[in-house]
Amino acid sequence: MRAMHISHDHPLLLRIVDDLATHGWSRQDLFLPHALTQALAGECRARAAAGELAPAAVGRGPALEVREGIRGDRILWLDPGQSEVCDAYLDVMNSLREALNRGLFMGLEDFESHFALYPPGAFYRRHVDRFRDDDRRSVSAVVYLNEGWLPDDGGQLRMYLKDDTVHDVLPAGGCLVVFLSGEMPHEVLPANRDRLSLTGWFRRRGNEPF
Ligand code: OGA
Ligand code: MN
Repeated sequence: MRAMHISHDHPLLLRIVDDLATHGWSRQDLFLPHALTQALAGECRARAAAGELAPAAVGRGPALEVREGIRGDRILWLDPGQSEVCDAYLDVMNSLREALNRGLFMGLEDFESHFALYPPGAFYRRHVDRFRDDDRRSVSAVVYLNEGWLPDDGGQLRMYLKDDTVHDVLPAGGCLVVFLSGEMPHEVLPANRDRLSLTGWFRRRGNEPF
């Protein structure tokens, strides 16, 4: 994967910043370049085949537990330097972090992210991404890695918007959804094929008790 760099003042990033300021969320259908999306999907599948993805848990600290009745995906946390393709993704997200900081003075200090694979039938019940006892997660960002996803495949991200309407997003490859972590309830509907994504959170310095 050739290194690519997107500047913090790229029009696409400015649009996301603007959407976030006005609506609390943004959706960009053509965010990641096709080649990067494909390479990330390949990496996710290879690591899943190698048994590196683990059942996702809900909660945090002592309350952390695996509950398939709430979420049934398998995940792998990303570390910088683990692969070229993952670093390319982290670089893009870092440009988005800079854009958010410059445009909205959000003071976002870091980004944590994981691959997620939802096997057929898996879902994630309605939730918000910010923990009750840890408010560092400020902005959530999900990128989808699925080729040729059709409405009949299911797996929509269902967003519950501020105006009490519902917005469904098909997890089609290259699409990015960004939203304020503490304000936007959402859920993942079951799909009938493997559903691949990269989910991440921009965090600011917080009042973490530990
Ligand atoms: C999450 C989540 C949404 C999606 O991991 O917290 O809500 O569309 N993911 O994968
Ligand atoms: Mn979520």
